[in-house]
Amino acid sequence: MVKQRVLSGVQPTGNLHLGNYLGAIRNWVEGQSQYENFFCVVDLHAITAPHDASTLAENTYKIAALYLACGIDLQYSSIFVQSHISAHSELTWLLNCITPLNWLEDMIQFKEKAVKQGENVNTGLLDYPVLMAADILLYQADKVPVGEDQKQHLELTRDIANRFNYQFCREKPVLKLPEPLIRAEGARVMSLTDGTRKMSKSDPSDMSRINLLDTPDQIQNKIKRCKTDSVRGLTFDDSERPEARNLLTLYMVLSGKTKEEVAAECQDMGWGQFKPLLTETTINALKPIQEKYQAVMDDKGYLESVLRDGRQKAEAIASITLAQVKAALGYSVPL
Ligand code: TRP
Repeated sequence: MVKQRVLSGVQPTGNLHLGNYLGAIRNWVEGQSQYENFFCVVDLHAITAPHDASTLAENTYKIAALYLACGIDLQYSSIFVQSHISAHSELTWLLNCITPLNWLEDMIQFKEKAVKQGENVNTGLLDYPVLMAADILLYQADKVPVGEDQKQHLELTRDIANRFNYQFCREKPVLKLPEPLIRAEGARVMSLTDGTRKMSKSDPSDMSRINLLDTPDQIQNKIKRCKTDSVRGLTFDDSERPEARNLLTLYMVLSGKTKEEVAAECQDMGWGQFKPLLTETTINALKPIQEKYQAVMDDKGYLESVLRDGRQKAEAIASITLAQVKAALGYSVPL
């Protein structure tokens, strides 16, 4: 039986944190044997906001190493860097020319980021979703694991593919329409400083998140100072207590205990008793990831060979799709 293909990507901006891991990457890892997977470091997306040229390459390697450290298995998955495959940029241009401008102007993320970036909004930020569509459509992906915030971009990807197929492929569609891959128990991890907001890379305060590469001291300090409430006894299901729910959920997921076990264990605890427990559990859960990460980063040759392999596998597929798209658009084949 041919496996369905999964594609996803992470930008090499900022550090990966527990929200990225528990909400996304851990799910990729758990499901990976069922699919043929392509995991991409989307470094072309990373320059849609002002970026630091001196750290871009290093951050790209870091994300690739973290993929491996989190358990991406090369038996089932390929890891590659978006900018290493020029078909991403080329397909973006071709798709740009069939994408109505107002589709892009309507994207929620564009509007939000444009406000944040103020004077500094570049054309790439508007075009970001077309590049993401190219990432997905080049590989004829069946499934794309996406969080809530990326659903609209996946819908747009389907709209672009549909429009392309309709306008240029009357006989047989060239582009496959991808489906979202939504898994039942992806944990939604909230900010440590506000239990009603998602843990996020772009929060200006590093105290709001636990990064996968934080040291034990940093983890301890962040949990010690995180927002709590003044109620005694801890419970998951009080909507007035978002911080309690978030921290208990973190403890549950990182310890591997069930909700019932955690609820029973913590029902009479105060924060002073719970915080050291969560600290220790977090440090222990991240330790194997951090060790694997260090081992990979210490062996640059290995990491480069993983990315070269990934690039070859990805390019073989991408180049076919790109050629089909160009043929459908009527381009001449170079002699
Ligand atoms: N836009 C995605 C995010 O910020 C990253 C991304 C780029 C992506 N290309 C992709 C995700 C293709 C899935 C598939 O999370």
